[in-house]
Amino acid sequence: MSVRKKRLILLAGVALGALGGLVAYTQQSKPLDPFEEAMRQREMYLETFGILPGELYVAEGEELFHRKGPSGRTLEACDFGKGPGVIEGVYALLPRYFPDSGRVEDLESRVYTCMQTVQGYKPQEVKREEVRAITFYIASKSSGARIQVVPKHPKEIAMYNLGRELWYTRAGPRDMSCAVCHERYAGQRVRLSPVMSPRQGLGREWPAYRFEEDAFYTFEDRIDFCYESIGIPKPEFYSEVHIALTTYILAEATKAGHSFLELPFFTR
Ligand code: HEC
Repeated sequence: MSVRKKRLILLAGVALGALGGLVAYTQQSKPLDPFEEAMRQREMYLETFGILPGELYVAEGEELFHRKGPSGRTLEACDFGKGPGVIEGVYALLPRYFPDSGRVEDLESRVYTCMQTVQGYKPQEVKREEVRAITFYIASKSSGARIQVVPKHPKEIAMYNLGRELWYTRAGPRDMSCAVCHERYAGQRVRLSPVMSPRQGLGREWPAYRFEEDAFYTFEDRIDFCYESIGIPKPEFYSEVHIALTTYILAEATKAGHSFLELPFFTR
């Protein structure tokens, strides 16, 4: 798709956002279920543009995936877990241990690593927005896939244990932990939103486009959103905190037999 066409669609998206606001205003007497509301917005996007914002973003990620870096190589030379060039289903297996970097990596940190080691970018040249778009593209190839994060390597097991510890650690000005909300209040609603525990499938809908924020969120972005909401400074992208929590949450989702929803998801 041409850049011009994308711009037109994005511009129209702004107009539609305003329209959505109007609709929300006129209907405010009756609070909508957040999932029904998301489905309604999704239908509106499809009817108006014939394409979802997440699909445009995936197309952007695909272009970046095939762009040559300073080394002359594209991300096709990166091993995401099933060998170089294979991206089908890899998101469902991550985080996992990679011998070449000596680290347990989630998809986002793996993209960040390969843009440096394979493509030759300097760390400061790797743009977060590009990693995000590429993550959307690769994750879209695991849409509906069964989540299969089973820590086996000692470093994977250590990462899982760290994630579990972080999950239960109370911190910040409100002395909160992830578990306080996501387990004690699991199945209930916090500000209209149903709260889930990892065993109930927390994490199976990311990466996603959030229409309320008009923004694209990866799983690391989503974790940051919760950290911010309890007044704890966001951890660095690609850091152990993100990877450990992701390992813990998705390993628990694996035990409960969950699959990813349609990726990238469309949500509020
Ligand atoms: C103050 C309560 C609270 C705390 C503490 C909290 N969360 Fe959340 N979290 C929520 C709510 C509410 C939602 C759903 C919000 C929505 O749908 O927009 C959510 C959503 C999420 C999601 C996305 C779930 C999905 O599938 O839609 C993830 C992932 C998440 N939280 C991770 C964490 C992690 C990791 C921590 C600890 C660092 C944490 N949360 C701490 C309230 C909390």
